[in-house]
Amino acid sequence: MIDHASPTIVVFDSGLGGLTVLSPIAARLPDSRLVYVADEAGFPYGGRSEQDLLARVERVIAAAIDRFRPDLVVVACNTASTLVLPQLRARFAVPFVGTVPAIKPAAEQSKSRCFAILATEGTAKRDYTRALIAQFAKDCRVIIHSPPALASRAEAWLRGEGLDEQALLADIAPCFVSADGAQTDAIVLGCTHYPLLLEAMTRLAPWPVTWIDPAPAIAKRVEHLLGPAASAATIRTGADVFVSTSPVVMSEGLHQALHRYGLADQALVHLELG
Ligand code: DGL
Repeated sequence: MIDHASPTIVVFDSGLGGLTVLSPIAARLPDSRLVYVADEAGFPYGGRSEQDLLARVERVIAAAIDRFRPDLVVVACNTASTLVLPQLRARFAVPFVGTVPAIKPAAEQSKSRCFAILATEGTAKRDYTRALIAQFAKDCRVIIHSPPALASRAEAWLRGEGLDEQALLADIAPCFVSADGAQTDAIVLGCTHYPLLLEAMTRLAPWPVTWIDPAPAIAKRVEHLLGPAASAATIRTGADVFVSTSPVVMSEGLHQALHRYGLADQALVHLELG
């Protein structure tokens, strides 16, 4: 256990989606120093080959660890976590917490035994995801759907660029099936970008479903690993950092979004990859 009051936590994603994981961490650990690392130069990850993604993520994480010396790293990206965690754990001594599709909770909660997983193309085809389904949802009808533009749509919306709601409805519609007396009653948010659009998706859904986001459970796990001193702290130090692999263009929309999701008074850093 790490157990000091102001741990440095790196939260990493391909873009801004990992803010949905950062937010409950910031709420649980107010005195932590949060370093949000977005690989914007590498976004999106969804369609990348496994070999390419392994190399890319390792490079970004190596640069982030070297620069910020974190106590813990959260891989707030399903596309990366379902592939790269064993390699990262083998190379770096720092503890890693990953983000994977919440298939077990969905199977536990689904009364109709019919639920959907909304995820990137990469996450949808991973052996890891298939193994979770085989292990926890054998008796369920599971729809896996990967809308190619959904992560980019969420990213643009968060930057204040507006939202095409008809396109969003078309993105989620295949998750809603009704056949043989059973209809979808839960949707796993299997990409950290998707909860950014939760309000609109809930409003546009053909019928109400339970949307399952793993972020609160991840925050709990992070708190547990960091020990009691970190949870006892009550003040926010304001020493957070927003890091991008692209030169940071800070619009008013992005600045407000970062605040809203819990990144206090951020310093901006352009992380150059070695
Ligand atoms: N936010 C990422 C995830 O959780 C991936 C989005 C992307 O880069 O395609 O899978």
